[in-house]
Amino acid sequence: MENDNGIIGQSTSLRKVFHVLLKVAPTDSTVLVTGESGTGKELLVRALHSHSLRREKPFVPVNCGAIPKDLLESELFGHEKGAFTHAIRSKAGRFELAEGGTIFLDEIGEMDATLQVKILRALQEKEIERVGGTGAKKVDVRIVAATNRNLEQEVEAGRFREDLYYRLNVIPLHLPPLRERGHDILLLCEHFLKRFCERRQRQVLVLSANARKVLSAYPWPGNVRELENFMERLSILCDNQTVQVEDLPDKILSVAAELDSLPTEPPRTGNMPETPAGQAGAFRLPDLEDMFASHLGLKEFLESMEDRLLMQALEKAGGVKNQAAEILGIKRTTLIEKLKKKRMD
Ligand SMILES: Nc1ncnc2c1ncn2[C@@H]1O[C@H](COP(=O)(O)OP(=O)(O)OP(=O)(O)O)[C@@H](O)[C@H]1O
Ligand SMILES: [Mg+2]
Repeated sequence: MENDNGIIGQSTSLRKVFHVLLKVAPTDSTVLVTGESGTGKELLVRALHSHSLRREKPFVPVNCGAIPKDLLESELFGHEKGAFTHAIRSKAGRFELAEGGTIFLDEIGEMDATLQVKILRALQEKEIERVGGTGAKKVDVRIVAATNRNLEQEVEAGRFREDLYYRLNVIPLHLPPLRERGHDILLLCEHFLKRFCERRQRQVLVLSANARKVLSAYPWPGNVRELENFMERLSILCDNQTVQVEDLPDKILSVAAELDSLPTEPPRTGNMPETPAGQAGAFRLPDLEDMFASHLGLKEFLESMEDRLLMQALEKAGGVKNQAAEILGIKRTTLIEKLKKKRMD
């Protein structure tokens, strides 16, 4: 699934999130997005806005963790002239800029208690007050918040207001960590490899079966952002067309060392590019029954298997023979010879 918001993934856990998103998008409900760092919270909130009835109106993100505490209030609510030393003229805040649209309060867990009260008021009364202002102003803004903290724990620890938590958490959307999204890992690897290789105008790198295995097993503590960075690095540093295990960064390799199934397979042969992650153990040699069922003799049967593997490798390599040969672990000249003989060239 690559939907129109650039969100890649087909895992059940991600589909569930999207299912809720599509339902809640056209409403004005407050949404709280949670998930570890780099799981795609911002991407999801942008998708929410673009599926909402407010899509033609502004989307205004505010990173509550990045703006100094004493500036955040004026940033959010604006200020009147003379409200503080440097307030030489009055200025609208992000709430006012988001009129009719969506304000995205990112990292809301970082916000301090006095400001939390003011956000609560904006939520409940739909009005705000500029710093140094004399009256409240009505605003029509949908509030969407995100955090990578566990807000329930923050509430228990007294760092986050319970009333605000419940008011924000009307519709919770939790993005699962990447390590729980199964095959999405490889979809994302391929997506980013393609993007970065195309950007560098080089042929798109292909992942060897073992590299795929290692990438699938790595726990991705930095989630999609970490994956994106690794793929960018590969697109710059990897000299071969096929990414082998050795080409992966040390951080990932330390995990590979713990995968006991790898050493039994030599890195450049026996690759099965189409084998889905996690099913590598499903490989089984054909037996006599299979040959009988095919109505072929031994020679033809073996040849048909070879044909199939050659075709798959060529397909995977986008028709580039160098690359297909590398995937198959044979010389380019051998591949060309085979194709000629089989009239597949
Ligand atoms: N499912 C996905 N498909 C494609 N790209 C994704 C996906 N999820 C995240 N990304 C990309 O990964 C990077 C990190 O995503 P994003 O900034 O949305 O994460 P975040 O949860 O807000 O992280 P943080 O908590 O660190 O702010 C971005 O470049 C984003 O485009
Ligand atoms: Mg973010």
